[in-house]
Amino acid sequence: MANNKRRYLWRDISVFDGLKTLPEPMAVITQGERVITMTPMNGFEESQADGCHDMGRGGVMTPGLVDCHTHLVFGGARADEFEARLEGASYEEIARRGGGILSTVYATREASEQTLFNAALPRLKALVEEGVTTVEIKSGYGLDVANELKMLRVARRLGEEMPVRVLTTLLGAHALPPEYENDSDGYIDLVCNEMIPAAAAEGLADAVDVFCEKIAFSVAQCERVFKAAQAHGLPIKAHAEQLSNLGGTAMAARHGALSADHIEYLDDVGIAAMREAGSVAVILPGAFHTLRETQQPPIAGLREAAVPMAVATDANPGSSPIFMPTLMLNLACTLFRMTPQEALAGMTANGAAALGLKGQGQLHEGAVADLCVWDIETPAELAYAVQPGRLRQRIYQGELTHG
Ligand code: NIG
Ligand code: FE
Repeated sequence: MANNKRRYLWRDISVFDGLKTLPEPMAVITQGERVITMTPMNGFEESQADGCHDMGRGGVMTPGLVDCHTHLVFGGARADEFEARLEGASYEEIARRGGGILSTVYATREASEQTLFNAALPRLKALVEEGVTTVEIKSGYGLDVANELKMLRVARRLGEEMPVRVLTTLLGAHALPPEYENDSDGYIDLVCNEMIPAAAAEGLADAVDVFCEKIAFSVAQCERVFKAAQAHGLPIKAHAEQLSNLGGTAMAARHGALSADHIEYLDDVGIAAMREAGSVAVILPGAFHTLRETQQPPIAGLREAAVPMAVATDANPGSSPIFMPTLMLNLACTLFRMTPQEALAGMTANGAAALGLKGQGQLHEGAVADLCVWDIETPAELAYAVQPGRLRQRIYQGELTHG
């Protein structure tokens, strides 16, 4: 790129470094793909500005946001189920009568790669325009080898065509497809023996996920999927303890899962297993809000055990049709009493850790220059107000992509 040695300078800026807000106003310089200077303003010498492009003063700088759990690639829409739920049907009831995830599976199987790409692009743009520089995209609406790989290819292509880092996750064990009705072990055989090997052979998956729940797969079945994933060198994660407490999180942690996600029903045994394994707790307030859940994830227990907490959109057509990361910061605070700092760490440093990118999603000298500058005065404002349009500048791998 022509600009890869360009230097950008911000003066007098409040910096949230991915884990905490720095105590003093800072001067920050990036050069090419890296942050090369991050120094308190009162120690900044004007000679350091030589050769720098002046990016302005004031505002708040954060790492680029990391949305570590999304289902952005899908066909169709499910507003009809939204209406049914408002009339009293539960997410589980809808799933049991063949709607829910399966209704998106039918629409996704029908759709070509190009159609899925075209549909996902504006969803991804919505995230990017809100400051996301790294996003995870799951499959899970194909539920056969060809359609799961199709979804992963679309996710990879999104990352090639947009200025955002896309990590892909194979979620073959998301729901039981109709062809395997009454043979869920047979479907898990397919996931383990064909889907995972095929995705690994084509380099299409960066991780493998499961949905461990009564309406999806048992702890034993998810464990089989994890063993197959690890035999192919792929890291693992789980949708677990979302609607009931099956112990899927503890099992996932025992296998060294990067993260356990949702976890509203997580108990102390699960928390201890996560702490032991160093797994990240991914908090998904969008699904809690949309499904009007009442069981809160055990934030205080996770905090006390020092289990890192991430926050993500879970953007998907059913349980969280919300494509607005900063709203998730707000909901994590208002619904779950996370602090704004915890929520922000959840969408930066801890979001990165949930993707196996430990040490990323942070700002320090030497860090990759993925960052956002916001038109606000304190980092907490990002969680406090639900207000699009505050992103002043977005830098992705050292390149200005917004502002
Ligand atoms: O993360 N919990 C399971 N999977 C998704 C929902 C998918 C859907 O409803 O389409 C989730 O909430
Ligand atoms: Fe999900």
